[in-house]
Formats: sequence, structure tokens, C-alpha cells
Amino acid sequence: MAIDIRHLRRVSLHTTEFEESVDYYGGPWGLEIVDQSPASACLRATGPEHHCLELHASGYNGIEHIGLGLPSIAAVEEAADEIDRQGVQLLSTPADLAGPGGGYGFRLADPEGRVIELSTMVEAVAPRPVGSTPTTLSHVVLNTVDIDAACQWWCGVLGFRVSDWSEHQMVFLRCNTNHHSIAFNQAEWTSVNHIAYEVASLDAFMISLGRLRHEDHTPGWGPGRHGPGHNAFAYFIDPAGLVPEVTTDLEQVDESSWVPRVWRRIPELSDLWGTAGAPSPEIRGHMAGTPDPTASR
Ligand SMILES: [Fe+2]
Repeated sequence: MAIDIRHLRRVSLHTTEFEESVDYYGGPWGLEIVDQSPASACLRATGPEHHCLELHASGYNGIEHIGLGLPSIAAVEEAADEIDRQGVQLLSTPADLAGPGGGYGFRLADPEGRVIELSTMVEAVAPRPVGSTPTTLSHVVLNTVDIDAACQWWCGVLGFRVSDWSEHQMVFLRCNTNHHSIAFNQAEWTSVNHIAYEVASLDAFMISLGRLRHEDHTPGWGPGRHGPGHNAFAYFIDPAGLVPEVTTDLEQVDESSWVPRVWRRIPELSDLWGTAGAPSPEIRGHMAGTPDPTASR
């Protein structure tokens, strides 16, 4: 029985600058705070997901959990059984979830200790009018110490598919028609590389850059358009030093005909527009992140 993951629901982050980050993502970044306590906050985009970002006050930056959506309680229970059969230890068994938005799900950890929550039946919220602010979480890129092991585990255990490689440096994984919802970058330590938020159009993308510029936030890399995934990109640095990306127009994959490619890592393929130039040493440093103290490898 395949594990029926339908979408990337949310990312939950540990952040060293909690209050400033809530102000940043709830302000010029364009998300909306839907739940807040002294040490955690949930923020939504305009789409139908209850929230796409959680922030937790912490002594380090890193993944608290990655949320993935399944279509039914039966699918969640089948996933737990299948993962258990594969010998992967669950962190919790399927049950009602207590956090904001509720739902039904369970947690497990990948080989590097990243916590993953598979869930369904999360509370609905009314979509908000689409403007220039994010409509949804687009993708999460993770630094891994072993890209082949990470790729094998996420595909073998969770059922993700490889969309493309960027040489043997990055691998782009999908769970639906989006070219990638998760990507891995070979690195020296386990950490977060960047978190991307989708906006509705190229106009919305440029207006987002304008909105951020008016608040003195300029891209550390971009605007440009990537070869792999074909998405427009602009990367920023948040108050804690994590890297969020504004993106749009991500390539859509026809499952029945897609064949993965290997992209050479050359400037004209990193940025098809030729507008972005090379990423600065500063943004490269932030994308490398700080070693996750909870990492198991
Ligand atoms: Fe990205």
C-alpha cells in the first residue's frame, strides 16, 4: 500500500528571534497570524490551509516539524501501518492532534532526526482574496549530510518521487503535480536551507518584492528564474537568519510522462533570466544554516 501524501501542509520552525520573526512574517512577508501564545505562533496564507507556518521561540534555528497532508483517516492509519512494517519507529501513533487546527495524525522522524507529521481532517478556514501575498507554502529545502540516503528514505518510506537533480548537489522531490515540495541539498551538516512561499502570478511576485523593499528588505539573491522547477525566485533573510523565498510559476509535472533530468550547475541554468547574478556569500551562509542540535546524523 503506497503512502498517499497529497501535499505539503506546513512547516514549523524553531527560531532564535521569535517576536521579530512573527512581526516579519505577519507583516511585510504577507502572512496572517491566526494563533499566538508567548512562545509560539501560527500564520496562514490566503489559501485554504489552516496555517502554513508555525514559529516556536527557541535557542536555535531549525525544523520543529514538517506537516504533510493525507486524504482520509484511513489513509493516515494505513500510512502508520506501512511505515511500521518498514521498521521505521513512529514518534506517536495515529490520534487526534491537539495543536491549532486540530486534525488526526501521527509523527515520525527521518534518518537525520527531522520530525514529520502526517495528518488529515485539519480544520477548514475560508480562503482569503488572492492578492500579492502568499497563497500557500511552496517548498522546503533541507541541507543533508547524505543526499542519497535522504532521497532514498523520502522516496522509499514516504513515497515521494524524484523530479530532477541539480548535479549530485540537490534533488527535487514531489508528492503531487508541483515539481518539488521538498528538496535536499548536500551539505556539511543537517539544517534548513530555505522555505518558499507561493504567490499567484509574476505580478504578485514583483509586487511582493516591492512591498518588502518598502520595509527595507531586499533580496539576498534574485529576482531570477530557476532552471530546475522553472520557478521565479527571490530569497530574503529573516530576523533570525533563516532564508524565506518568494516564488511563483513552479513547473507542473504530468506523472504519467515525467522523466527526471540532471541539471548542470552553471549560471545560465541557475537563473534563466540572467537577472539574479551569483548568490552572495552572505545568503550562501544563511542557506547553509546552523547545525541542527537535534540532528541524529
Ligand atoms: Fe526554492
